[in-house]
Amino acid sequence: MPSALGRVLTEAATAQRDVGDQETCEKLLARVDRRIEELLSAETARWSEVDARVAVPVGAVAELVSAGGKRLRPLFCVTGYLAAGGGSGDGTEDTVVDAAAAVELLHAFALIHDDIMDNSPSRRGVPTVHAKYTDVHALRGWAGESRRYGEGVAMLAGDLALAYANRLAGTLTGAAAEVWHELVAEMIVGQQLDIALAAEVKPDPRLARWVAVCKSGRYTIHRPLALGAAIAGRPGLDAVFEAYGVAAGEAFQLRDDLLDAFGESAATGKPTGLDLDEHKMTLLIALAAAKDPQVARLVDDSRHSDWNPAELRAALVASGVRADVEEQIDALVADAYGALADAPLPAGWRLRLEELADMVAYRDR
Ligand code: IPE
Ligand code: IPE
Ligand code: MG
Ligand code: MG
Ligand code: MG
Repeated sequence: MPSALGRVLTEAATAQRDVGDQETCEKLLARVDRRIEELLSAETARWSEVDARVAVPVGAVAELVSAGGKRLRPLFCVTGYLAAGGGSGDGTEDTVVDAAAAVELLHAFALIHDDIMDNSPSRRGVPTVHAKYTDVHALRGWAGESRRYGEGVAMLAGDLALAYANRLAGTLTGAAAEVWHELVAEMIVGQQLDIALAAEVKPDPRLARWVAVCKSGRYTIHRPLALGAAIAGRPGLDAVFEAYGVAAGEAFQLRDDLLDAFGESAATGKPTGLDLDEHKMTLLIALAAAKDPQVARLVDDSRHSDWNPAELRAALVASGVRADVEEQIDALVADAYGALADAPLPAGWRLRLEELADMVAYRDR
């Protein structure tokens, strides 16, 4: 049994190592931001030489990136890498920086297109790309439909962000390349099911959960962690990161649904109530409709053009589903902790991953 002094010294050494780990993580994340900025500035300069119009979509991506965002996907990618033992002078640091920059640019693509699909006017506290360029078109009195021009610019900006993401991911090989391709495809098909369920007004908890896991759980947490671990050359953590990432990711999406329905737009930078307005069959709505016939009836009524989202919102509050979902989030966070419990991870990284599960589940933005 270690002496009291021995224990104190071990704890101090662990604390010191954890501070070192966090510094390494922050340095890598700062490099990720610089990598994105450098790429976008070089592209802006290159295309501006041809004509200012050509650089418009690059500028739109750069504006979205500089408007903020939580940078969760690079955070999980770098965390997966370091937790798996990457970064010990094995020459893989540049690869993880590029991969983490790739997931954030992929996210820019996903968000820009998501905002067209969801008809959203704001993102990260500023107008969405399609909304901004719809206004530019209208203000300048250009020919054609303003909305179509705005959405055209946003489609191209999103496409460019995806092209840049693929360029940065282009050096990935083996397991890391496989994770990348899977991550991209499953996020896109998750988005398809999201819009299909909205169009069909189908509040099905099983399908809504699949959407949440795909477009959030795997895309935001599980796959970025797995990508980092693959770059570090530690496939042995796959099952741990999957169990943790899917649970924490579902909690993240349930919080996203709650913030959309009840959050503060000043904090989230996104409109409040948009999911209801746009008939999104979120997990929150699907659970509420399964629990409360009044919600189910109003959801069904939303097929008709004269429906009233305020009535559905009031029924949602009255159904008590908010408390149920908070409980479900607690249970998912407990599952995420459970996935880490016996994992072959250094103690400091286990704690850090627990903190991150709390952070994504109990955020206000
Ligand atoms: C929003 O993601 C899209 C979802 C998957 C719910 P984030 O909440 O990570 O958005 P940013 O990057 O911080 O803006
Ligand atoms: C979007 O989900 C998920 C992706 C961009 C992959 P949401 O539509 O719920 O995201 P927000 O709420 O607009 O950020
Ligand atoms: Mg959206
Ligand atoms: Mg969406
Ligand atoms: Mg949302």
